[in-house]
Amino acid sequence: MTMRLEQDRLAADAIDYEKLIQRDRVHGSLYTDADIFQKEMRDIYESQWVFVAHESEIPEPGDYVRRRIGEQPLIVACGKDLKVRVMLNRCTHRGNMLCQSDAGNATLFRCSFHGWTFSNDGRLQGVSFRGGYEQSLGELRSELGLAEAAQVGTYGGFIFANLSGDAGDLEHYLGNAKDAIDRLVRMSPAGGIDLSAGWMKHDNNANWKVVNEVQVDGYHPLFVHESLYKAIKPAKVDYSSDELRVAVRDLGGGHSEVDYTAEYQAQDREFIWFSSIPRSRVPDYIEAMEALHGPERTHDILVDGPPHTFIWPNLFLAEMQVMFIEPLSVEQTIQYTAPIKLLGAEEMSARIIRQTEGAMGPAGFLIADDAEMGERNQVGLHAQEPEWVLFGRGFESEKVEPRGITSYDRTSETSQRGMWQHYRTLMTETTND
Ligand code: FES
Ligand SMILES: [Fe+2]
Repeated sequence: MTMRLEQDRLAADAIDYEKLIQRDRVHGSLYTDADIFQKEMRDIYESQWVFVAHESEIPEPGDYVRRRIGEQPLIVACGKDLKVRVMLNRCTHRGNMLCQSDAGNATLFRCSFHGWTFSNDGRLQGVSFRGGYEQSLGELRSELGLAEAAQVGTYGGFIFANLSGDAGDLEHYLGNAKDAIDRLVRMSPAGGIDLSAGWMKHDNNANWKVVNEVQVDGYHPLFVHESLYKAIKPAKVDYSSDELRVAVRDLGGGHSEVDYTAEYQAQDREFIWFSSIPRSRVPDYIEAMEALHGPERTHDILVDGPPHTFIWPNLFLAEMQVMFIEPLSVEQTIQYTAPIKLLGAEEMSARIIRQTEGAMGPAGFLIADDAEMGERNQVGLHAQEPEWVLFGRGFESEKVEPRGITSYDRTSETSQRGMWQHYRTLMTETTND
């Protein structure tokens, strides 16, 4: 999309990624090397579809949120025409960051450096003291609008963008992960979700891949989240059992999931995924779901519950929360978490918000545990020996199924292998150009 400096052909392009990423292990330098990070931002984040926002965050004309793709700052805005635009947050005069607020509503953005103004669809509106230019305002306007992402697409209300224009069709990109978005959306009796409750931001001193890997890791919970399981054990499934019917799945394209559906269906109990609350706690939700789906289908949906699915490279459907990440540097990643409000289900949504505070908030059980583990992982990876990080668990037990490569050993590292194989493809494709 842009002219790049020749030296932007990085030292990291010369690396042999086939060697560093093997079937059952990856090289530790992939988490700590700043040149490799630069290449990842260019060849993964800036070349692929990346989740940037949800439609419910910017429903009205003028609504915007400030995000990033890789290292590039963005404004994601809803225009007067209700079109969602993903614009680069860089004043076209001398490059100042145009929009400062995380979110808001504005018809115009005014650059704080020399006062140029841009409408929320990216057009240059006004140039202060414009007598200093020979061109007419019309000429300036035709050249100096904000740059935009080459493609913007939505699926189930999730907005994805790609900067390069080379990422192909969004639905093709989502592949088997589309079902996970469908599964989430059907939890709502109005057929949609709302992520406007607000994002919690956690600053992780860890590489972005460390943060992603743990989201679909069925091996760590009994150790890292031991205190949580002690607290909630009476209401949930026995997570220590080896007999759990859990599928760990590489969905292809870097997407992956840990799927409890078979276990929940075998128990045939509703809301196991939500502290096993009885129906009587959410009567309006049940009524609305049954009005839409009928009693049998509603029962099935409430047994199966929401997805636990990671969508490459930055989005995680974390059951009743949505999370996404923004890599800031090779050793720093911002993790965003929002509770899911189910449209048409206010009482259920209020419960989800309370659960999110308990699990994911600053004093919560889950996210702080994982973040601490990520930071320790990052420190450990600086030791130069042994060189390799092992992802070989469950390799032998994998089966190729229609939804993807699946292991029924919940501690299998199938998900991480899926991410890394996709990573290898992306990092070698451009290197070999
Ligand atoms: S950098 Fe924005 S007006 Fe000068
Ligand atoms: Fe965890």
